This record gives sequence, C-alpha cells and structure tokens, in this order.
Amino acid sequence: MRLRIYKRKVFLLALALAACALALWGTNGRGRRREAARGGTAEPPAPPRPRAASEAPPPPPAASARRPAAADGNASAPPAANATLGYRSLVYRLNFDQPLRNAGRFPPRAAADVVLVVQVHDRAEHLRLLLASLRRAPGVENVLLVLSHDLWAEELNRLAAQVDFCPVLQVFFPFSIQLYPREFPGHDPRDCPRDIGKAAALRLGCINAEYPDSFGHYREARFSQTKHHWWWKLHFVWERVRALREHAGPVLFLEEDHYLAPDFYHVLKKLWALRGRECPECQIVSLGGYGLVRGGFAGRADKVEMKTWKSTEHNMGMAFGRDTYQQLMACTDAFCTYDDYNWDWTLQHLTVSCLPKFWKVLVPEIPRIFHTGDCGMHHKKSCRPSTQSAKIDSLLNSNQQHLFPEAMSVSKRYSMAPLSPHVKNGGWGDIRDHELCKSYRRLQ
Ligand SMILES: *[C@@H]1O[C@H](CO)[C@@H](O)[C@H](O)[C@H]1NC(C)=O
Ligand SMILES: *[C@@H]1O[C@H](CO)[C@@H](O)[C@H](O)[C@H]1NC(C)=O
Repeated sequence: MRLRIYKRKVFLLALALAACALALWGTNGRGRRREAARGGTAEPPAPPRPRAASEAPPPPPAASARRPAAADGNASAPPAANATLGYRSLVYRLNFDQPLRNAGRFPPRAAADVVLVVQVHDRAEHLRLLLASLRRAPGVENVLLVLSHDLWAEELNRLAAQVDFCPVLQVFFPFSIQLYPREFPGHDPRDCPRDIGKAAALRLGCINAEYPDSFGHYREARFSQTKHHWWWKLHFVWERVRALREHAGPVLFLEEDHYLAPDFYHVLKKLWALRGRECPECQIVSLGGYGLVRGGFAGRADKVEMKTWKSTEHNMGMAFGRDTYQQLMACTDAFCTYDDYNWDWTLQHLTVSCLPKFWKVLVPEIPRIFHTGDCGMHHKKSCRPSTQSAKIDSLLNSNQQHLFPEAMSVSKRYSMAPLSPHVKNGGWGDIRDHELCKSYRRLQ
C-alpha cells in the first residue's frame, strides 16, 4: 500500500514535470513587478528600512510560471492544460530550486542564528499582520524566514514578495489538497463518507472502509492536511533546505495567525542562551502562552518559567534545535499512527510514549507571541484580525519601556512531571495518512 502510493506520487510528479516543462519554457519571461507597500489601512506603521528602499523588489520565484494578470489582477492558475498538473510541476520545481529572495541584500547568516518557519494555509489577512509584526522587530534582518505553504495563491505569494526585511524562502507542501483535489491525500470520490459506519462502508465498498478512526468516522481531507504539512515541513526544513544545511541554532515554528512582539528576536536569543546555561535538558523554548496579559509588564518582562511542555499552552512560537528534531524523527511511526489529527496533541502523546524524556520548556512570563485567529472558524464574518492586533499593539505600546530586557532569568521552576493527552481526538485512522506521513523522511 505504502509503496504503491509513494511510487505513484513520484511518478506523477515526474510526469507532471515533463508535461509542463515545455509550457513553462515558453513563458519564461520576467514577471510583473510587484507594487511596493500595498498594506491595508489597519497595518501598524512600520518604519521604512533604508537598506531596502533603493532596491526594487525582486520578482517572485514563480513569476516565470504565471500567466500575465487579468485586468482584475486575478492570475492564480499556472499555464498548463491541466491546472492541477501545472501546480504540481511548479511546486516540485520550487522545492527543488529553493530560490532565496533578498539573499544578496543581507550579510551571510551565522549558522547559529534564528530561523523562522511559518506554516501558511489560506488566511492572507493574518499573514499580512504577522509579517508587519516581523518587519518592525530589530534583529529580524539576521533571520531566514521560511514560508511553508499548502496552497498556491496569488495573494499569499504577493505578501511573500513584499518582504524586504530579511531573506525569504517559500516552500510548498507537495501533497496538498490543491495538488490532489480528487484523489488521496485530497478527497477521492471513492472515499467513505465521514459518518457512514463501518458495516455500511464495507457494503458500499468505498476504498477506506477498513480504516475508520477510533470514533468510527472516516477521514476528511481538509482536517488531515495540517498534520501532514506540519510533519513534512519539519523534515524538509531540517534536512532538505539547502540554506540550512549548516544550521546550528534554533528554528522557531509559527503559524499564519501568530503575531510577534517587537522584541521577540531579542528575547528568543536570550532564551536560547539561558537554555544553554541553565536548562540544556529543556528541549523546547516557547515565546509565550495564550491570552493577553493582565496588569503591566513591570518586573515581569525579564522573567522566565521552567515547566513541563503542554501542547495547549506551548504550541505557539515553539523553538528547538537539531537535537530535538532528531528525537522527533526517531518517533516518526508514533507520530504518524497516533489517532489524533492535531499535530500538537500528537506531540504531547510522543512526550509520554516515545521521546526519551517528557519535554521541558522555557517560557517567558510575558508572552512575545500572540494569536490573531482567536475568533476561530465559526465567526469568520465578524472576525477582525486587525482588531486583535490593534489590541495587542496597544498593550505592547503601553509597556514599551519593559521590552528588550537586558538580561533574562529563570524565576519559577515548576515541579515537573510527564503529561499525557487526556483525550484522543481521532480523525487520523486511515492507513493512507499513516503511510504518507511516514514517507516524508524518505523523500528527497
Ligand atoms: C479569480 O478568478 C476565479 C475564476 O475565474 C474567480 O472564481 C475568482 O473569484 C477570481 N478572484 C478574484 C479576486 O477576482
Ligand atoms: C488533471 O490531471 C489530474 C492528475 O493526473 C487528473 O486527475 C485530472 O482528471 C486532470 N484534469 C483534467 C481536467 O483533465
């Protein structure tokens, strides 16, 4: 089963590449110029960066593969007879070529400096705010920003192309629903309906009838994608991104709806150094838990807590080094077969089932990371990420004098004990998901 799926994907990718090479060849001109600074009105004002002001933004990596824009600026489909194959080819090529934007504008990266990896799905408005928060952070010019997409979308690419404050690499999850819209890992019309029940599924003969989850439900592609993307990205960043071959520092994992304090880089460096001195066994450093802070920052902005890592508190802004990555990879089978479609709860499970020891985390008392996606899926219409970011900015502004602490120290050491996930959420019972997930570390 596994080999069949895997070989088929490789074959399809190769086929797609061959099929589209000619088409791409023909349109290999320069892309449209990006307009500078298209930020909306809600964007927090960002100081101009002089070093970038004189340079035109370079073309986006895939400009050569895009159709000229229509009058409405709508230019999302690649120029292939079959759009799906066109996207696959594009993604394959970009993940292979890894064009690093802005590379020449900044001094070469120190191997031990910070890497940011953002898992991006489809929320451009959130991503725009995250990038605005990065732009104003001193030190950000030293990081490499990796945007890991599971969707090829003009608007997201435009945001990436506007980044002028650090080197940027866009990578693409190669088994996304967009690339496999009518077959696994997307939704295959022959898949069992979620709620059909196993007996009925077997009678119907749908293809995954044998593999409902722990609660008797069949997979839903859009819920499986995030965990796949997370695990693929983890491996790809540490093993396949050429710019990170020598990387010896922390990688900070973010999502599109995160928002950072102006001193996040400063604090992360301090936390990383503190870890080296005081808690080498802290496998994770976190930029903060959830919720806006009550009270002022006075006397707390330089304090760090040492705790047991808990997925519901410490899944935002996690940073870790290669040693932790390697321990995770050794737990691939456990990660990929645990019946929970949430990557963070799955990690919690690993901390008590597979990893050498449960995770300890260093986390600042005053968070340097926030969430602009709080209103969730159910309030999409009324949800205003910019309202959320404005609230955060006002909190940060009124505590400005406490940011950028000169030194940070451990203030609380909680008594630490392993934590198990208290429920398993299901949604990850299909062996196709298990096998695909396990295959990433063998991908080139
Ligand atoms: C882009 O084109 C597609 C298909 O023609 C359409 O469905 C979509 O609404 C368009 N998007 C914009 C932003 O115009
Ligand atoms: C495009 O290619 C995919 C993958 O081979 C295939 O499943 C799909 O049917 C094709 N679409 C069209 C419109 O030919």
